[in-house]
This record gives sequence, C-alpha cells and structure tokens, in this order.
Amino acid sequence: MSASWTDEQLLRCLKDHGVAEKMANAMETTSDPAIAIRRILSESSGSIPSFRANSDGKFKLMIFLGSARNHRTYWGPHSLPPRSGDRVLQWAQGLIEQRNADDNCGTYDVVVMDPRELDLPILDQPTYYYGGPEPAPDKLVKLQAVVEAADAYLIITPEYNHTIPPALKNTMDFFGCSKYANKPSAVLTYSMTEWGGVRAGVALRPMLGELGCLMVSYSLAIPKVNQVLDEHGVLGDEHAEYGNKFGKMMGQLDWYAERTRAHRDASV
Ligand SMILES: Cc1cc2nc3c(=O)[nH]c(=O)nc-3n(C[C@H](O)[C@H](O)[C@H](O)COP(=O)(O)O)c2cc1C
Repeated sequence: MSASWTDEQLLRCLKDHGVAEKMANAMETTSDPAIAIRRILSESSGSIPSFRANSDGKFKLMIFLGSARNHRTYWGPHSLPPRSGDRVLQWAQGLIEQRNADDNCGTYDVVVMDPRELDLPILDQPTYYYGGPEPAPDKLVKLQAVVEAADAYLIITPEYNHTIPPALKNTMDFFGCSKYANKPSAVLTYSMTEWGGVRAGVALRPMLGELGCLMVSYSLAIPKVNQVLDEHGVLGDEHAEYGNKFGKMMGQLDWYAERTRAHRDASV
C-alpha cells in the first residue's frame, strides 16, 4: 500500500473490498477481533473441490498433488517446465476415464486437491485443534468434508530432497486421521531423475498408515518424467509399460475401495 494514500482513499479501498462486511460477519461467532481477522485471511482465495452430486454407485477418488511449483526454470541447457506433476495428472485422469468405461474396473468420480489452487497457509493447527470459542475456518471445514467423503486416495507426487514435498504434507496434515481412516490409498511418484521419486513413496507409507488410509502394496514410480510424458500428458509409445503398471496399482485400489466401503456402509 502506498504511504501517500489519503484517509479517504484508504476508506474507499476498504469499502470496495467489503472489509467492513466481512469483519461484521466474522465477528458474529467471536468477540475477539484477532480471531475474526485470522478467519477472514484463512478463508480468502483458493477453490474448494467437490465431488459431483450424482456420483452414486461410483467410488469417490481424491487425488492429492504433491507439488505447488508454478514457474519455468531458466538454468541449464534445457529449462524445466512448470510442474511436471500436471502432465502426470493429465495422464492418470485419462487412464481413470478409460477404466471408468471398462466393466471390469472400478468407476471413480475424481476431485483434485491441488496445493497451488487451495492456497492454504502453513499449518498452524489442524481442523481438530479448533473448537469452543474458535471454530475452524469455513474453508477448512468445507475441505475436510470433501476429504471425509472420499472412498479412496491417489497421491501424485515428486520427491523433494528424497522425501515428501512440503506442500503435500502441509495439505494432508490439516485433516485428522478419522477423515482418512478405513479407506485405501495409492501412490504414484515421479521425478526428473532416474529414481522416479521412490523415496517419497517410501516416506508416504508410514504417514498414510498413521492416517489410517493404508497404501496398496503396488506403487508406481515414473523416472525422467518430462521425457516419458509430453506436456499434454501423452505417454511415449516406448513407455507403454507405465500404463499397465498404473492399471495394476488401480486394480488393487479397486479391490480395497469396494471392500472398505461395504464395511463402512454396514457399520453406519
Ligand atoms: C526442492 C526440490 C527438491 C528436489 N529434490 C529432488 C530429489 O530428491 N530427487 C529427485 O529426483 N528430484 C528432485 N527434485 C527435482 C524434481 O524431480 C523436479 O523438479 C520435478 O520436476 C519436480 O516435480 P514438479 O515439477 O511437479 O514439482 C527436486 C526439486 C525441488 C524443487
């Protein structure tokens, strides 16, 4: 904000952004202005994904993306495009659509939890630490409902410094294990190197175990991802084996998604 603004300009700006109205709304459930301001800030920007209303009979699959990278690099002989994960996501979503049309495969309604779009703050406290005079911010409550509604999780992530990228951990840690529990998860890692992000996959297994959404035994790692998949998520013909591997991993997810949902439905 410019230091040369007049009081009149400042007031007009606050009015244009609806600050007084937001503050009045936030103060309806708290007497503490600091809590009201924190709530307004945490609710600002970022879209909430939602499953389609008519997803009856389908499993609800939540895809977590591990990377929030958004810029092309300018070093080296070849610049690195923004987020390799986008091509992996496109490829995986295409395969899930093909599987949806196959009677022998599970059918999934998909939502994507994209840390770049969610724009969550660095975690200070998870949703279940709120309560009493300080209810959880509306945005977190809405996101939590989507996490809880899922029947299965697919994590698409690179490894950062040989482990889970902070954007993925930060997003998932906002929600308690009861929201993830008794459902399966599958992990698809990738990297620009020859290791395919496997170390993030290894690190995710105990974390997903703790959350109660046990990881299926088969996990897929795609090395040299920007050579294997083009920028539209199209797999080079010479890499067809990755499609088969994805099918094998999803077949395991189908099996557990069906059985765990039957148990959850029976115990309601
Ligand atoms: C902070 C950071 C750490 C990284 N660490 C690794 C690593 O441990 N192993 C690896 O193979 N690649 C590593 N890379 C390179 C990534 O494989 C590469 O940037 C890839 O494009 C990441 O996926 P993304 O573009 O979807 O974020 C790292 C990249 C970043 C930004």
